[in-house]
Amino acid sequence: MYNELKGRDFLSLKDYSTEEIKLLLDLAVKLKSEHKQGIRHDILKGKTLAMIFNKASTRTRVSFEIGMFQLGGMAYFLSIQDLQLGRGEPIKDTARVLSRYVDGILIRTYAQSEVEELAKYADVPVINGLTDLYHPTQALADMLTILEHKQKLSGIKLAYIGDGNNMVHSLMIAGTKLGMEVRVATPKGYEPSADVTKMCQDFAKASGGKLILGNDPEQASIGADVLYTDVWASMGQEKEAEERKKHFQDFQINKKILGLADSKAIVMHCLPAHTGEEITEEVFESSQSVVFDEAENRLHAHKAILAALL
Ligand code: CP
Ligand code: NVA
Repeated sequence: MYNELKGRDFLSLKDYSTEEIKLLLDLAVKLKSEHKQGIRHDILKGKTLAMIFNKASTRTRVSFEIGMFQLGGMAYFLSIQDLQLGRGEPIKDTARVLSRYVDGILIRTYAQSEVEELAKYADVPVINGLTDLYHPTQALADMLTILEHKQKLSGIKLAYIGDGNNMVHSLMIAGTKLGMEVRVATPKGYEPSADVTKMCQDFAKASGGKLILGNDPEQASIGADVLYTDVWASMGQEKEAEERKKHFQDFQINKKILGLADSKAIVMHCLPAHTGEEITEEVFESSQSVVFDEAENRLHAHKAILAALL
């Protein structure tokens, strides 16, 4: 059960087939259920994960660290400020050094190319803990959350309202590979990357899913099973935050948008949230919001990734 994906990197869900994503989700469901029953595994006994962070993190850092511990292994948090990498040591050297010590490397940074370079030179699996382009570990956990609340993924209508950022790129990939109808509403000029869009249109064609891009949040929300949003300005875009606020005013999940969705729709946000901006406090705290289930599922989805790859 744990052998199919051994040794693989986890840089983007685009590199995983629908079957492989489903395998990870099955594993996450199993590990979560066993954890809740008090069944413990030490399948990663003696294994170690180095975690390089070049951006802030609460959920990703804590859930990977605790996930390693719960599976019998150990994680090392490495802040960029404390690493020689932060003083200019090349990524390719860091990759080769860490590969001599640890069994896996997680990295959160800016450019996807940095993660790819790390993976190219590392002898151990590299996991993308968020770049400006993708956030695949979050998207996997989100699929688990949707599956739990909706009992299926194929055919689910997911409406993402907000910035065409790392989060929506990974949701588009996961969603179109799993046969969902992914609707994306962004302000003009903040659309998802054209390359990712093209790729996801092909995934949708192959899976029987759909990808619909537009600039109308109301249109996107009609009859949706899942409403999803993320911050208007991501990490690294702090200087643009004020300017972005002007363009994103209408791209908020609020009572009106929720009223257009299916009456049993769930509301999701990868967190951290800026309530009053991309989502109202009222909707964030409503019974339809599953944001803390989503945060919890990072732990279970990450344990599946670790158990499968390391
Ligand atoms: N959603 C998410 O990745 O949270 P952190 O930035 O806290 O890791
Ligand atoms: N898009 C956000 C996600 C944070 C988890 C960012 O990159 O800051």
